[in-house]
Amino acid sequence: MREEGTFLQNDVGRPTWADIDLQALRHNLDQVNKLLYPPQRAMAVVKADAYGHGAVPITRALVSAGVIDFAVATLEEAQALRRAGIDQNILVLGGCFPGQEEALLRESLMVALFDLETAERLNSVAVHHRQLISVHLKVDTGMGRVGFTPEEMRIALPRLKMMPGLVVRGLMSHFACADIQQSHVSAAQQRLFADMVDLVRASGINPVDIHLSNSAGISARYCSGCTLVRPGIMLYGGLPGGDYASILDLRPVMHLRTRIAQLRKLPAGSGISYGHRYRADRPIKMAVLPIGYADGYNRLLSNIGRAIVRGRIVPVIGRVCMDWTMVDVSSVPDVERGDSVTLLGSSDGLVITGDEMASQLDTISYEVFCRIGARVPRHYLPSG
Ligand SMILES: Cc1ncc(COP(=O)(O)O)c(C=O)c1O
Repeated sequence: MREEGTFLQNDVGRPTWADIDLQALRHNLDQVNKLLYPPQRAMAVVKADAYGHGAVPITRALVSAGVIDFAVATLEEAQALRRAGIDQNILVLGGCFPGQEEALLRESLMVALFDLETAERLNSVAVHHRQLISVHLKVDTGMGRVGFTPEEMRIALPRLKMMPGLVVRGLMSHFACADIQQSHVSAAQQRLFADMVDLVRASGINPVDIHLSNSAGISARYCSGCTLVRPGIMLYGGLPGGDYASILDLRPVMHLRTRIAQLRKLPAGSGISYGHRYRADRPIKMAVLPIGYADGYNRLLSNIGRAIVRGRIVPVIGRVCMDWTMVDVSSVPDVERGDSVTLLGSSDGLVITGDEMASQLDTISYEVFCRIGARVPRHYLPSG
């Protein structure tokens, strides 16, 4: 029999947690670095709590691995990193909303800039404090999201030159279709971006950093002329697109685990969970797991999810509930209450990748990782 102490993860917690493997993170960073054109460097994208992996510990681990540039989506995310003592370069990709200028300045943050009105606000705050704010001009080369259009950029450049409080530290854009190899959209974006680099330089503004590639762009080895790349999903072990499966060697960083709360032997004909969407067609051994959609284990995995128990893949049966999920462990000999169960990530040489789970859910691994909720404590496994 197992000790009660091994059943619980800690003195008080429910035994449902996510192991975050910092060695795998390090491995994935090495894979990114192998794809760079020296002296390019990686600006690690740690927005959305490092895609659900925990922004502060992930950033600290990446700092120890030599990363000096980071990107987040919001001012609040950047402030959380500063509060944790992270004094590396941080770029706020989401831009500056009215009222955030002082905080950006105070925290020495860089910010993506995509309109002149914001430039004027940032400039006047910087001038007022007799300091400088660093901006990265964002041009929309085809993403169809935020950015100066090329025409707006032409108009903006002379005005930006008249703003003494701003330092144009970077020029950036973002790919729309780089998950598909050899997309003509990516080719057009690269051409337009190169034109924009020329345009900006010809205006007399010389950004130190030029960056375009996300993980997909890095994998496709686009933008040899860039000084920076912005990897996100690759760092966490997710594929930036199915096209890159055969060329990337990435390891899952997040492993979502729980322990069997109850083992039940049920007769043929038993209905399982809400709506009885599963009915046993034979006697089964069922394990009840203390994890549910409130933890980010998606309800759409009802009857189709999979888990690893004692080196075997077992199916989720019935509807995933808010706090409970059931699996059929009839095929697992010697299974016991308290056994560890892996729902995402690897165990015993088997793996359920974020990409596999995402394809079951008709989404992308990004969303799978981001949705693992705050109720699931993250346990950091050292990078060795
Ligand atoms: C502007 C920008 N750059 C880089 C990234 C990182 O992308 P990926 O996770 O695909 O590497 C993102 C993520 O969505 C982004 O919005």
